[in-house]
Amino acid sequence: MPVPHKGTLLERFQEFIYENYGIHYHQQKTDILRMKLDKLLETQQCSAEEFYQSLVLGSLKARDQLLEAITVGHTFFFREQQHLDILLAHIQKTGNTRPLIWCAASSTGEEPYSIAIKLLMSGINTFVVVASDINKTVLDAMNRGVYPPGKLEYTPKHIKTMYFTRHGPHSFKISPEVRKHINIKRLNLQEELLFERPFDYIFCRNVMIYFDEPGRKKVVKNVSRNLANGGLLFVGHTEAILEVQKDLEKYAPAVFRKV
Ligand SMILES: C[S@@+](CC[C@H](N)C(=O)[O-])C[C@H]1O[C@@H](n2cnc3c(N)ncnc32)[C@H](O)[C@@H]1O
Repeated sequence: MPVPHKGTLLERFQEFIYENYGIHYHQQKTDILRMKLDKLLETQQCSAEEFYQSLVLGSLKARDQLLEAITVGHTFFFREQQHLDILLAHIQKTGNTRPLIWCAASSTGEEPYSIAIKLLMSGINTFVVVASDINKTVLDAMNRGVYPPGKLEYTPKHIKTMYFTRHGPHSFKISPEVRKHINIKRLNLQEELLFERPFDYIFCRNVMIYFDEPGRKKVVKNVSRNLANGGLLFVGHTEAILEVQKDLEKYAPAVFRKV
């Protein structure tokens, strides 16, 4: 049964998504959510109300299915490449021999793999990238590391040759040399997160747009708490986060330094 266009059930879905994941599907995004839920519920053997009840009762399967339906994982290799140049220059300038990097909301892995390739190409091979996302499906795809050619549109040919192998007629698989630097974790940026060791660099790009201001504040606090003093935070070029955190100063376009 489709979710009603108006009424309390759709509102309860909105609230559940907002409360648990911080994703804001209110106001003008209501119709988009209704379409996504209609599509999801078409594949279920239960009513919208029953599906909602499974979510509230804590069904992990229902929650995974919901997250897969409502998150937007668009990404590609070497997106916003200036950030990779800034990262490399900063590592070289500071002489950090073991950079620890967190790529939060990394979707299917193109972003953390691009970071790893950039460093490997410069002869840096003692680094770790923690790559996290909330959606299990994208993490599984990152772990497989197989990509259609469209995702490599901005990847130079020599990099394709060095760090990918052909996987079937139409796909490319990331090489084990790159994969071994990536530590994949499932994390919700809206929950309070505290890692054992602070990161030297955090990439948190193109995810703030799905949160409202209180949600963005939570995420910025989370990343700032886990960033080493002098470390850099990279956000998407269209995302303004600065007004919310006093210990982050502007370093470059969409890059902030923890002071
Ligand atoms: C558009 S992708 C960004 C991918 C990559 N960072 C980039 O810039 O190309 C947004 C990702 O944010 C993730 N996401 C949304 N809400 C989240 C949350 N509360 N915690 C962690 N990840 C979340 C989604 O699952 C999705 O994979």
